[in-house]
Amino acid sequence: MFKLAPSVLAADLSRLGEEVAGVEKAGAHLIHIDVMDGHFAPNLTLGPALVRALRPLTRLYFDVHLMLDRPEEFFEPFARAGANGITFHVEARPEPEALLERLGALGLGRGLAINPETPLESLSGRLERVDCLLAMTVRPGFGGQPIVPGFEGRVAGAGALLAREGKAGAILEVDGGVRPGNAAALRQAGARALVAGTSLFGAADMAAAIRAMKGG
Ligand code: DX5
Ligand code: ZN
Repeated sequence: MFKLAPSVLAADLSRLGEEVAGVEKAGAHLIHIDVMDGHFAPNLTLGPALVRALRPLTRLYFDVHLMLDRPEEFFEPFARAGANGITFHVEARPEPEALLERLGALGLGRGLAINPETPLESLSGRLERVDCLLAMTVRPGFGGQPIVPGFEGRVAGAGALLAREGKAGAILEVDGGVRPGNAAALRQAGARALVAGTSLFGAADMAAAIRAMKGG
């Protein structure tokens, strides 16, 4: 099933509980939580305390995206707080296999993310333990950036890599600059989940925006 993952970074953080309930009602499948450390990405955002506070409010899957230099230090805190899946970056950990295994041992979905300018070949031979490949279509750091030029080719390339590695069953998730106007192209390029922040929380009709991005 095609999945829509609202990024809560773009929500009204002063009333986050209501915002999460709102996107759940509007048809979202996952809640995407962007975690930055001010080093790997030039911003500070959300942490395990927030995941713990949101956990009783929804049954949706918590998709935690770690943009951290040392992601493994936060696997257990996020697992305890109620994360369902964790994604970390190949730029932070170029040999990610043991850490992916650790995520699996914690009962979490195992995700690996790649920045737009990093060659896809850096993932070759490293995807065996991956449940989700997160292709970034902006530089990590801030919501509301425009999607990178050539994103269709990039997403198609990531899908082809998964197929070559015998991982066609893994979820190809796309993150950054996603909006109703480019969602069809992203789906066509092979995306199976879309993260959307600004375009969703800024929408006048969230359910309509989710339907448009899911393709009906
Ligand atoms: C970027 C984050 C994204 C971002 C998406 O550093 O990983 O998840 O918040 O936001 P939009 O949809 O506004 O580009
Ligand atoms: Zn993200």
